[in-house]
Amino acid sequence: MNLKNKKVLLGISGGIAAYKGADLIRRLQDQGAEVRVVMSKGATAFITPLTLQALSGHPVSTDLLDPAAEMGMGHIELARWADVVVIAPATANVIARINAGMADELITTACLATDAPVVICPAMNQQMYLNIATQENLANLSRRGYTIWGPDAGIQACGEVGPGRMLQPLDICARLEQFFAPKLLAGQKIMITAGPTREAIDPVRYISNHSSGKMGYALAQAAAAMGAEVTLVSGPVNLATPAGVTRINVESAEQMLHSVMQDIAQQHIFIGCAAVADYKVKQVADQKIKKSNAHMQLDMERNPDILATVAQQQQRPFTVGFAAETQDVAHYAMDKLKRKNLDMIAANDVSIAGQGFNADSNALTVFWQDGQQALAVASKQAIAQQLLTLIANRIKSS
Ligand code: PMT
Repeated sequence: MNLKNKKVLLGISGGIAAYKGADLIRRLQDQGAEVRVVMSKGATAFITPLTLQALSGHPVSTDLLDPAAEMGMGHIELARWADVVVIAPATANVIARINAGMADELITTACLATDAPVVICPAMNQQMYLNIATQENLANLSRRGYTIWGPDAGIQACGEVGPGRMLQPLDICARLEQFFAPKLLAGQKIMITAGPTREAIDPVRYISNHSSGKMGYALAQAAAAMGAEVTLVSGPVNLATPAGVTRINVESAEQMLHSVMQDIAQQHIFIGCAAVADYKVKQVADQKIKKSNAHMQLDMERNPDILATVAQQQQRPFTVGFAAETQDVAHYAMDKLKRKNLDMIAANDVSIAGQGFNADSNALTVFWQDGQQALAVASKQAIAQQLLTLIANRIKSS
């Protein structure tokens, strides 16, 4: 419930993406937000005010000069009520009129009359989006402090391909959660490793593990939302870079170590969430190895320990490790905390189905020298936020 009691005024303008407004209302409510809706006349051609009224639980205004609507919460009152105004979808037309400061309909008037932040989620034909007029309007609005989210690129309703698709409601909701998250890590530089490493055997084969990167990416997203400047050193994963995060792609443990050490002196916090391969092949073959023998043996040697190397630095950041265990979780985690000289370790029991590797949820027991705290099973996003809050509090109290 990261948007608990937040008042969202949702402005829906007239594009095919207007139907996504219904889902957006639900997603916002799932997070505890109170949603009121205003629509442009054009939007009513794509989705009815009645549908949105039923979903939001409040009358939906479509007309600036509707005496009945003004008897309830009038348009100025609505603009003042909002903690945030979200225009989604925002057509080229409504963007141009907001930029011009027009007050000719409810959506544009709400933008003029509010002192809350305004978020614009563009959605239109890709050529209209790329048109210099739209680009200048958006740049202007951005300069004036409006927040622009999206658009996504892809196949459009008109059959063309390019930028102009409204962000998915879940994505908008996640960004709003970030927007409102307490800025506990403001001014902090944080580096996070995520995903697996790949240790080459020959030009076409490698050794790796099941890490998806979801836990590390959730940490990066939550840290950015909490105001930190985030560097994500990532093994090969299939995830989008969270907004506002600097991502460095690596493959092997050696490359990860190199990237981490290049910038570690600037960091206040380091979190080693990557599943780094403990061993690498001693002699990587130049050519693809032929399967001429019934058996094959690989000569392997230890990889450098990135986390321990960071913790050994004289001027080191607040250093947090992860421990992926399948038995005696607390015992092994505490051992790693001491042996690697960490400030904190987050242990997960990766033998439990639905947690740990490649799952959407996780549960952690977090240990530090003189304390511990269990974080009950929850989405990796929620766990990330709780772990970062713990870290922020530990730093504050030390
Ligand atoms: O990526 P997901 O699919 O979301 O899964 C998340 C996760 C299970 C990978 C994550 O929650 C997790 O537990 N990450 C650490 C995995 C791991 O390698 O644990 P470990 O107990 O083997 O290593 C202990 C710590 O040392 C870790 O912080 C690890 O990053 C670090 N390490 C290990 C070896 C090495 N050579 N260098 C290291 O820095």
